[in-house]
Order: sequence, then C-alpha cells, then structure tokens
Amino acid sequence: MAHPLPQYGWFDRHTRNCVRYVEFGLRKKMLQGRVALVTGAARGIGRASAKILASNGAHVACVDLSESTETVNSINDNGGTSRGYVVDITSKQSVEDLVHQIHQDTSLHTSLLVNCAGITRDGFLWKLSEKDYDDVLSTNLKAPFLLTQAVAKNLIVSRKLESGSRSNDVVNVGSVVNISSIIGKTGNMGQSNYASAKAGLLGLTKASAKDLAMHGIRVNAVLPGFINTPMAAAVPEKILESVRQSIPFGYLGEPEDIAESVLYFCGRQSKYVTGSVLEVTGGLYM
Ligand SMILES: NC(=O)c1ccc[n+]([C@@H]2O[C@H](COP(=O)([O-])OP(=O)(O)OC[C@H]3O[C@@H](n4cnc5c(N)ncnc54)[C@H](O)[C@@H]3O)[C@@H](O)[C@H]2O)c1
Repeated sequence: MAHPLPQYGWFDRHTRNCVRYVEFGLRKKMLQGRVALVTGAARGIGRASAKILASNGAHVACVDLSESTETVNSINDNGGTSRGYVVDITSKQSVEDLVHQIHQDTSLHTSLLVNCAGITRDGFLWKLSEKDYDDVLSTNLKAPFLLTQAVAKNLIVSRKLESGSRSNDVVNVGSVVNISSIIGKTGNMGQSNYASAKAGLLGLTKASAKDLAMHGIRVNAVLPGFINTPMAAAVPEKILESVRQSIPFGYLGEPEDIAESVLYFCGRQSKYVTGSVLEVTGGLYM
C-alpha cells in the first residue's frame, strides 16, 4: 500500500530547511527598534544580558565604570549593534548626560533599562565602615533609582510631545529590569549593606512599577542566587563549596541563566507583568 504522505528525498528536506533558515533570518526580531541601556555590561551578568538583548534585535548601550570593549565587540561581530559608555552611575549628572548622549547617538529614546551594576563591600555589622555602607547603597540602590528616573522621564516627555497628550496605547512602552539578589530576601552574614540595598531595590521595583504603569513602563526584578561571575569568584572557595551543597541543583548558575529572565521581562511575552520578582537560584532558599 502506498504511503499516504508524500515522500521527500534528502534534497527536498535540505531545501525546505534552507528556506526556513532564511525566513527565520528575515523575520523581525522581537526587540528591533529598541534601545537597551545595560549597566555593569563590561562583564558577568551585565555582559550576558547585553548580548541576549542585542541578539534579539535591540541596540545596546553598554554602561560600566570600565571599558565594555569585549562585550561591544562580541555584539557587533555577531551582527548586533552596540556602543560602550564609561560612566559612574552613582552621579545624577552623569546619568542624565548618559541618557541624553544615547539619544544623540541613536536618535531613539532608551526604552529598555537593565540595572545590573553592583558591588559588594563585606564585613560583619560591628566592623562595617560608614563608607562601605554608603558605597554599596549608592551603587546598588541609588543608581537604579537615578537611571529609572532619567529613562522614564525621557520616555514620558517624548511620548507627550509626539502625541500632544497621553496616548491610549500605553502597552509595553518601556521595561526596567532590576537585578537584585536572593540575599535581599534572606539576608546574609557579613552583608548588612548589600542585603539592605538589594531589599531596598525590591521596594523600588514595586513602587516605581506603580508610578510608571499608567505610562506603559513596566518594572520587574530578578533575584539571582549564586552565579558564576567575577563577583562570585571573590567568595572564598570554602564558602562557595558550602553554598554549592545547599543549592538543590548542586551547582552555581551561569550569567546566561539570569540573562534569559532579563530577556523575558524586556519582551512582549511579559507585557502584562509588572512589579514582579523572579528568583533564579537553582532552588536555593525557595
Ligand atoms: N554573581 C552573583 O552570584 C550574583 C548573585 C546575586 C546578585 N548578583 C547581582 O547581579 C549584578 C551583576 O553581578 P555580577 O556578578 O555580574 O558582578 P560583576 O562584579 O562581575 O560585574 C559588576 C559590574 O558592575 C560595574 N560597576 C560597579 N560599580 C559601578 C558604577 N558605579 N558605575 C558603573 N558600573 C559599575 C563593574 O565595573 C562591573 O563590571 C549585581 O548587581 C550583583 O549584585 C550577582
């Protein structure tokens, strides 16, 4: 009995696969036409986030205290578009100048913001200096506030100018992703400054999500567990080993695991999600 379906040879299958591949390449990428500002983009989670947003079509402004050359080159060499900016994001003036500069360079307003830059200055509470407390709060909490404010102001004003009044179409105008930490939820020995900042960032996420929802700007947070980056490499191996043993998956996450969540929060798949917190921890402290 003849087979009911047509039989394709290798050549037909190969041709169909080629057509699919070309179609896929031509299809508009999800974040095409968007400008994403990623802080801490020179390495670690920031670099992975910058790369995944660029590979989904966004133009990425890579912001860091250090040069983001490796990140920018990798994006541009792989068909994306990106530019590096060396900026200290704890200064209000520098942040405002940065957002203005990105607009000048791209002729577009930044509509995706990933607040990823962060620092640790660990020490037991009774020994922690005021400077180490202030520096950690300044980078991990104040800077995301300054950036969210600058980016949101620009988006809101530009939309008002374009439409003459507030437009009814306020779906997915912008998206802010704050990289907090599971430590913001649980606390951690020797990290009263870092835990305060990361818990504060969750408060900032929810309050700014409420303020910005009417303008179509969403704000969400990711809580990484322990992730394989230079920041985690600074933790003594003995402590890392005990952390590994307490992670249900038994190993540290990779920066790309966090970047996938950043992509989700930036894309249209999450257009009805705001003020939410996603734990990406391998099950740690669930
Ligand atoms: N790695 C982890 O295990 C882990 C876990 C939970 C949360 N996080 C958070 O994820 C984020 C990224 O962590 P990572 O591990 O990739 O860190 P990382 O140390 O590898 O990279 C942080 C980047 O931020 C930049 N930066 C610091 N201060 C800055 C400033 N004032 N202005 C501009 N850039 C500045 C640094 O130069 C660096 O390139 C941080 O907010 C961190 O707290 C990391």
